[in-house]
Amino acid sequence: MKIVVVGATGTIGKAIVTKLEQEHTVITASRKGADVAVDMTSIASIQGMYEQVGKIDALVVAAGAAYFGPLTTMTPEDNEQSIEGKLKGQMNLVLLGLEHLNDGGSFTLVTGIMMDDPIKQGASAAMVNGGIRAFVKSAAIEMPRAIRINSVSPNVLQESWDKYADFFVGFNPVPVERVAQAFVKSVLGGQTGQNYEVY
Ligand SMILES: NC(=O)c1ccc[n+]([C@@H]2O[C@H](COP(=O)([O-])OP(=O)(O)OC[C@H]3O[C@@H](n4cnc5c(N)ncnc54)[C@H](OP(=O)(O)O)[C@@H]3O)[C@@H](O)[C@H]2O)c1
Repeated sequence: MKIVVVGATGTIGKAIVTKLEQEHTVITASRKGADVAVDMTSIASIQGMYEQVGKIDALVVAAGAAYFGPLTTMTPEDNEQSIEGKLKGQMNLVLLGLEHLNDGGSFTLVTGIMMDDPIKQGASAAMVNGGIRAFVKSAAIEMPRAIRINSVSPNVLQESWDKYADFFVGFNPVPVERVAQAFVKSVLGGQTGQNYEVY
């Protein structure tokens, strides 16, 4: 399979690439330092990426910035960061990517545990996670040409614990390898419309 991984240089993305590149052709994508440069907040940049890579069998997203901050001080502009980054960014990768996917191909997006297990300062990020989950479930029933779509919802990672421990008090972080395995299940398996919880 020919697979594009957006966010391939990140903590989750690197682990996905390590697994998939053993038996597949993986094209890495991110704003800097990958095979293909893409900024998922820009429609023109997404279109440029798809033109560059040609027809593919799978598009995997392990990227998407979301706003963290107290609800009482959150501004509409703060919230917009989550919508532009993680919500619209991922949806636009799907909308613009459909015609570039081969028959039977797949999209795999990323959500996160906060939509199910809330943390303080997480309302905006939780909102976009829930939006992506709902989009995936709905979009799955309209996908043409046997194209599948799923999302993966990671718990906080052991590898990110130093950065996020103060936000996720009482959580049991999971190894990134388990999260990457859920992405592999989505790409190589037969299911669609799923949100794989790695909690
Ligand atoms: N880490 C966790 O504990 C955890 C838990 C649950 C959910 N998640 C979610 O999983 C996703 C990835 O998390 P991570 O921890 O692996 O992130 P990370 O280590 O910060 O990596 C982010 C990746 O996305 C790329 N990226 C960032 N902005 C981009 C943009 N506008 N366009 C294209 N690529 C972009 C980065 O490369 P460039 O900077 O070069 O673009 C990098 O490759 C995020 O949506 C996060 O919310 C993470």
